[in-house]
Amino acid sequence: MNKKKLRESNLKEEKPKYGWYVKNLIIGFNIIGLLGLIAFIYGFLICDFFNIILLILGIAIMLVFLWPGIGMVMMHLLLLGRLSLVTKMNALDKIDNPQILDVGCGTGRTALSIAKELKNGGHLYGIDIYSKLAIPGNALERVQKNAQIEKVDNKTTFQYGSATEIPFENDKFDIVNASSVFHEVHDSNGQNIAMQEVYRVLKLGGYFYLSEWNRKSWQCIAFGGICCFAFKNKNHWENLLKINNFRDISYENRAGFGIFVAKK
Ligand SMILES: C[S@@+](CC[C@H](N)C(=O)[O-])C[C@H]1O[C@@H](n2cnc3c(N)ncnc32)[C@H](O)[C@@H]1O
Repeated sequence: MNKKKLRESNLKEEKPKYGWYVKNLIIGFNIIGLLGLIAFIYGFLICDFFNIILLILGIAIMLVFLWPGIGMVMMHLLLLGRLSLVTKMNALDKIDNPQILDVGCGTGRTALSIAKELKNGGHLYGIDIYSKLAIPGNALERVQKNAQIEKVDNKTTFQYGSATEIPFENDKFDIVNASSVFHEVHDSNGQNIAMQEVYRVLKLGGYFYLSEWNRKSWQCIAFGGICCFAFKNKNHWENLLKINNFRDISYENRAGFGIFVAKK
C-alpha cells in the first residue's frame, strides 16, 4: 500500500475529537457536588444540631455545584453531540464561492459542520487563541487533524488569531461566524472591539452569525444552574450588534442558544 492510501485508510478509522467544553470545570463541579450529596445524606441520617447545619450546607453545595455539574454533562450528551451551534446558513445558497471566517473555531465542532455545507466552492478560515480552559485538547493541530478526518481539509484553513485583532484585511469575508465565543471575551469593551473587528473584515452586505447561550432560556437554567450568570441575555448581544452598525438583525432561539444573523 502506498503512503497516501495508508494515510487515507488510517484516517477512515479515526473519529474527529472535538472535546467537551469546560471539561475540567465539569469534573470539578461534580466532585464538589458529590461531597455536598454525602454531607446531605449524613446530615439527614443523623439528626442533631450539627447535622442540620451539614444538611443545609449539603443542599447549598448541591444547588451550586451538582446541578450545573450534571446539567453540563446532560447538555453535552443531549444537545451538543447532535447540534451545530448555527442553523443552516441560508446565506450560503445566495453567495457564489463564499469566503467564510469562523472566529474562535476551537477544535472545529461548528467550523467543520459549516465547511461540509460548502458543496459548490468557497473556503472556510478559522482563527482561535486555542485556550485550553474552554476545551482541553484545544489546539491548532487538533482542528487541522479533525478537518482531515472530516475530509474538508482542502476547503479549510486554520491559524492562530484573536477575535479582538482578526488577522485578515478589511472587507474579505462574505460570512463571519462566532459560536459560543463572544462571552469568553470578558468585558463589554473587548466584546465591542471584537464586533468592530468582525464588521471590518466583512464585505458590505456580508452576514454575521453570532450564537450565544441565552441565560434567560429554560435550557440554560436547566442545564447550567447558577452558571447561567456567566452568560448574557438576548438584549446584551442585540445592543452590541446595533451600536456596531449591524442591520437587518434576526434572532432564533435554538435549544437555549440564541442565534443572531445580522448584515454589514
Ligand atoms: C466554547 S468554545 C467554542 C468553540 C467553537 N466555536 C465551537 O463551536 O465548538 C470557545 C472558543 O473560543 C476561543 N476563544 C476565547 N477567546 C477568544 C478570543 N479572544 N479570540 C479567539 N478565540 C477565542 C476559545 O479558545 C475556544 O476555542
